[in-house]
Amino acid sequence: MPLAIVSALPEEQHGLQALLHDARTERHAGRDFTRGQLHGQDVVLALSGIGKVAAATTTAVLIERFAIQRLLFTGVAGGLAPQVRVGDVVVARQFVQHDMDVRPIVPRWQVPGYAQPCFACDTALTGALQQAAQQCVQAAQGWQLALLGGHAPQVHSGLIASGDQFIVAASTSQRIHSELHAAGYPALAVEMEGAAIAQTCADYGLPFAAVRTISDRADDNAHVDFPAFVQSIASRYALEIVQALVRD
Ligand code: ADE
Repeated sequence: MPLAIVSALPEEQHGLQALLHDARTERHAGRDFTRGQLHGQDVVLALSGIGKVAAATTTAVLIERFAIQRLLFTGVAGGLAPQVRVGDVVVARQFVQHDMDVRPIVPRWQVPGYAQPCFACDTALTGALQQAAQQCVQAAQGWQLALLGGHAPQVHSGLIASGDQFIVAASTSQRIHSELHAAGYPALAVEMEGAAIAQTCADYGLPFAAVRTISDRADDNAHVDFPAFVQSIASRYALEIVQALVRD
């Protein structure tokens, strides 16, 4: 049974498609799904598009139509915690929806019907992903250092916050970070799909892991940093981390 590899944007998965053996593409729900073998492992590549609904639809198709066994998300995110810088890598341990608010019916950030606001990633797959990320970040120091003006990239692991909002103001990211932090949810990064995939995978009991490279600081410069980073670095990371994971 295959491993699904999902990203929101084509740049976040660029190069993986070319490495597939015996690639066959099918279209469902307006999206392309490509089956094939990557380093001898059965995989399905999919691009979800942006946002929580798009991510949940893609995940449901992968589970219902492709009988996937595990799901890996690879992409970029905005840095939220002060120590998380552009070029760093965040391996998700848990996800929360920063825009979910059904108070006073349930506590803030909690999705009604679930026990608490955070959705956990699979421990074994996340451990393997953490090792793969560490290995790749060390190997990437040379080209990364040149592109990032001397900052040696770090691998972080922890909570990621998702919401249907591209964060382009320091005031917004500071608010999201401080409100979550004060409630005991110290989010490292912000993006727009992970928590939806985590929730869908939880519904189906499917192991899920996610890795995000930091493309911007979700601040007033994010609209400039994001496209530059996605073009230059994100795809290299995705390619190397995914390959390191499936090879091991
Ligand atoms: N993904 C990458 N950068 C982001 C940002 N600033 N806001 C939301 N999602 C992102």
